Formats: sequence, structure tokens, C-alpha cells
Amino acid sequence: MIQTPQGIERILFTEEEIQRRIREVAAEISEKYKDRTLKLIGVLKGSVFFLTALAREISVPVKVDFLAISSFSSRSGPGVVRIAKDLDDPIEGEDVLLVEDIVDTGFTARYLLQTLAGREPNTLSICTLLDRTSSRIVQVPVEFRCFEIPDRFVVGFGLDYKQLYRNLGYIAVMNPDVAL
Ligand code: IMP
Ligand code: MG
Repeated sequence: MIQTPQGIERILFTEEEIQRRIREVAAEISEKYKDRTLKLIGVLKGSVFFLTALAREISVPVKVDFLAISSFSSRSGPGVVRIAKDLDDPIEGEDVLLVEDIVDTGFTARYLLQTLAGREPNTLSICTLLDRTSSRIVQVPVEFRCFEIPDRFVVGFGLDYKQLYRNLGYIAVMNPDVAL
């Protein structure tokens, strides 16, 4: 039995399942971008854990860059999303893969796609660790996904509750009533 912290209700995906799935998705990505150089763009802070695991399994040359966003109540309405920390470098002419921890309502991903598309990359796609299509409010084209998840709040492998639980190796459903 894995010892789980307070607030964890049940484990959805174990560390081994996540690693196996990341390898499969990385193989799809390597195939799609073969003979090219790929720029992975991570959205701080949630996607950092996924991005590093994914990057190590990709076989084409990879660059990484990060941006941070601040968003306000994207689950309760059209969230106001803005870039709080921008990329270090331009993406013009590059093959860009936006790496997300989770696509939920879709507001964040749509905003980022629109913003990045304006910088004229050669190609621009999304890869997400988790996809909750049942919560989608705006449609976004998710090209690569590791797992579809139910409509429950999840933590681990980068996903947080009040900035905690990001360092869990697994992904779990949490019960906020008994959280840390
Ligand atoms: P969207 O704009 O609704 O797609 O919001 C996505 C963002 O909401 C993610 O980047 C997460 O920060 C957050 N989020 C949505 N669902 C969860 C969850 O179950 N656990 C942790 N964070 C979540
Ligand atoms: Mg996030």
C-alpha cells in the first residue's frame, strides 16, 4: 500500500501508469516531428513535472521555454487569462508544442493558442497530461493527451490544491474537505 497524504481519496493513475503512457505519447510526438526540432512550451507551474518527463522520452531535438499565466475563476465563467511571465525567446518559424497539465474548460488553452499563433510559429499544437472533456466550455484542438479524467478535482504530478501536492508521483482524486 502506498502511504497517501491527508485529503487524497483514491489514486487514479500510478507512477508506473503515467510513465508508460508518457512513453507512448512521446513516441507519437517523435513520429510527428521527425527530422524537425521541437520547441516545448510549458505553462508554469503545473506542467513542469509533465514537461520534463515528456521531454526525456522524445527522440527529436527539443528546446524548452516557459510562460506563466494568471487566471481568475475559469471554472465559474469566462476566465480572464493573461500572461504573467512571457517566453524568453521568439517562436517565429518554430514547431511549437504547448504542454499543459490539464485542459478543463478550455479557456486557458484557447487564450494561449490565440496568443502564440499571433507570433507566427511554423506549427502550433497542444499536448496535455489530463483532459476533462466533460467540463469543456470552449472548444480547443487537443492533439496529444495522456489521460481523459472524470469530473473530480485531481492533484499530483504537477497539479496542485492551494500550491500543495504537486510533488506526488501519482495522480489522485482529492477531497478538499479533509485537505492539508
Ligand atoms: P481551464 O482554463 O479551465 O482549462 O483551466 C485549466 C487550469 O485549471 C489548469 O491549468 C489548472 O491550473 C486548473 N485546474 C483545473 N482542474 C483542475 C484539477 O482537477 N486539479 C488541479 N488544477 C485544476
Ligand atoms: Mg495550472
